[in-house]
Amino acid sequence: MKVITKISELREEIKQWKREGKTIGLVPTMGFLHEGHASLLKKCREENDIAITSNFVNPTQFGPNEDLEAYPRDFKKDCDLCESIGIDVVFHPVPEEMYTDAHAYVSIDTLSDTLCGKSRPIHFKGVCTVVTKLFNIVTPDRAYFGEKDAQQLAIIKKMVKDLNFDIEIIGCPIVREEDGLAKSSRNTYLNPEERKAALCLSRSINRGKEVISIGSKVENVLKEMINVIEKEPLAKIDYVSIVGLEDMQPVETVEKDVLVAMAVYIGKTRLIDNFIYKVVQ
Ligand code: PAF
Repeated sequence: MKVITKISELREEIKQWKREGKTIGLVPTMGFLHEGHASLLKKCREENDIAITSNFVNPTQFGPNEDLEAYPRDFKKDCDLCESIGIDVVFHPVPEEMYTDAHAYVSIDTLSDTLCGKSRPIHFKGVCTVVTKLFNIVTPDRAYFGEKDAQQLAIIKKMVKDLNFDIEIIGCPIVREEDGLAKSSRNTYLNPEERKAALCLSRSINRGKEVISIGSKVENVLKEMINVIEKEPLAKIDYVSIVGLEDMQPVETVEKDVLVAMAVYIGKTRLIDNFIYKVVQ
C-alpha cells in the first residue's frame, strides 16, 4: 500500500494504471475510520482493480464555529485498517496541496438548502468542491459514499449527473453499533452519559419506521419521532424532517420515496441519522 501526499505523484500512478486498462475505485474520507468506512473500503476493494481512498479533513466544509480543529485524527490506525483491507493507495494531502487562496467552488443550491444545509450553510459547497477535485485527480470508475450522509449522497449523485462526470456513485448502508447508534467519527466526542443519551436517535428512527406508511401525514410521523427524542434531557433537536429522496424538498404526505432524516445535538456533539422509506418496498 502506498501513501501519496502529492497530486502530481498520484496522477502519474493513475496514468500508468489506466494505460494497463485497470478499473479504479475511490472512497473519499476524512479519516478516523470506523466500520462504516470499512464497509465502503471493502466494497471498493472487491469491485475494482485498483482501490484508492482519500484521507483528508477538508477545511472548506466546516463552518467558522464548527469542529475543524478538534476533528478526530488517527492516521496510523487508518493506514493499518486500509492495509488490512488491501487498499492500494491512501491519498493524504496537506490542505496547501488541495487549496490555494481565492479558490473556485462547486455548489448545488436547492438540494443543499434543506436538512443539514440549513444549519451548515457552507457545508455542501465545501463537500462538492473537494469531491469534484478528488474526482478530477483520481478519475475513478466508481466512488463509494455512506448512506448515513444521505443528503451528501443525493447531492453528489445530482452533481455527477449535472456536471457529466463519468463515474458510478455507489451508496452503502449505515453501519450501526450493537445497541443501534449509527457509526460516526464524531461518536468519539461523547462521554459515557452522552453515549447512552445518543441512543434516542436510533430509537426515534425505529419509531418512525413503525408508524410511516403510504399516505401518512408527515406531521404525524414527525410528532411520534420527536416525542422519543424529547424524552432525552441531553438531546436538542436541530431538525427531524421528511423530504423527497431525490430533490431533498419537504413533503406533506408520504406519496413517493422519502428520506426521513434528523440531526440532534447530544451535549455539544451534533449527530445525524436517517432511513429511507420506499413507497414500493
Ligand atoms: O463524508 C465525508 O467524510 C466527507 O464529507 C467527504 C465526502 C470525504 C468529503 O470531504
